[in-house]
Amino acid sequence: MNPTILAFETSCDETAVAVVRGREALSNVLSSQVDLHSRFGGVVPEVAARAHVEAIRTLTHRALSQAGVHPDDLDGVAATAGPGLVGALLVGHSFAKATAWARQLPFIGVDHMEGHLMAPRLQFDEFTPPAVVLLASGGHSQIVHVADWGVYEVMGQTIDDAAGEAFDKLARVMGLGFPGGPAIDAASEGGDPTAVMFPRAVPERPFHLSFSGLKTAVNTYLEKAGDDLAPLADVAASVQEAIVDVLVDKTFAAVDATGAPIVGGGGGVLANRRLRQRLAEEADKRDLSLALPDPLLCTDNAAMIGVAGGHWLAQGRITDWAETVDPALTL
Ligand code: KG4
Ligand code: ZN
Repeated sequence: MNPTILAFETSCDETAVAVVRGREALSNVLSSQVDLHSRFGGVVPEVAARAHVEAIRTLTHRALSQAGVHPDDLDGVAATAGPGLVGALLVGHSFAKATAWARQLPFIGVDHMEGHLMAPRLQFDEFTPPAVVLLASGGHSQIVHVADWGVYEVMGQTIDDAAGEAFDKLARVMGLGFPGGPAIDAASEGGDPTAVMFPRAVPERPFHLSFSGLKTAVNTYLEKAGDDLAPLADVAASVQEAIVDVLVDKTFAAVDATGAPIVGGGGGVLANRRLRQRLAEEADKRDLSLALPDPLLCTDNAAMIGVAGGHWLAQGRITDWAETVDPALTL
């Protein structure tokens, strides 16, 4: 069964709607609120929720028309149930439930992180369990062993900041603005990643990650460097390399420990060009398949929610109407 799913993602600052059939995204549209939030240096929850309300109907029409799908052709409606900002989540979740109810369609609430984890399915036929997946976004950094769909062992995670959060905070102290990941990625262009040796934290547990020490080190460097301050591109490339090193090392330590034949990635940080390059190099060395979706399927989108929702609908797992959002949902 390849169900046709109308899917919604509103956990943070992107209003996203997609139509997905089986593993194929027929449409995948979004409205980013970055400009609304950038002057505050971060996402303002109340502003995000209101902007979702304003955008969601138009985007739904656009997603259906771009897909060439009539609502009568839908088999189900899916939406992110958490984790995320409660007000933002409620907009997409309630809109999706109301749409499903009105059309007598099943509704599937999806874990945002499972969405990121399943996103590679949209592009890679070979992406099936067992696999190791690196999930790195604004709120999460996890290395997950996928024994089967729905059977997830979080082998390691950050003990302090998420990788995306580290990018965002570091960009702020470097005066690069918000969101920080894309800003550091761009600023590092042509920079020397070995210019400044920032520390790589090695938490005791083998697959865990930590980024708060890096934040302190970068702050200290910027305060004390004085005349020795390296050019911005070098500092950005060096900061980026410190984060990327940790993510790549830990991911492949988990791959080696499990013997998984395929490595996947999801979450906004996986849009990072240097991280993608390094993951590809390591996978090549080991002759492993790498399933890294296009950057637009790594950052928040609704196609990933649709592919996960469709998977669970095909398995007969639908969500009770009484279920609501859970801002603290965990895999
Ligand atoms: O998955 P995502 O779009 O939203 C969340 O679920 O959090 O991830 C957003 C995070 C932000 O912290 C952003 O700075 C980071 O992903 N990000 C990047 C890049 N693009 C987005 N980090 C590094 N390099 C990028 N190119
Ligand atoms: Zn995300």
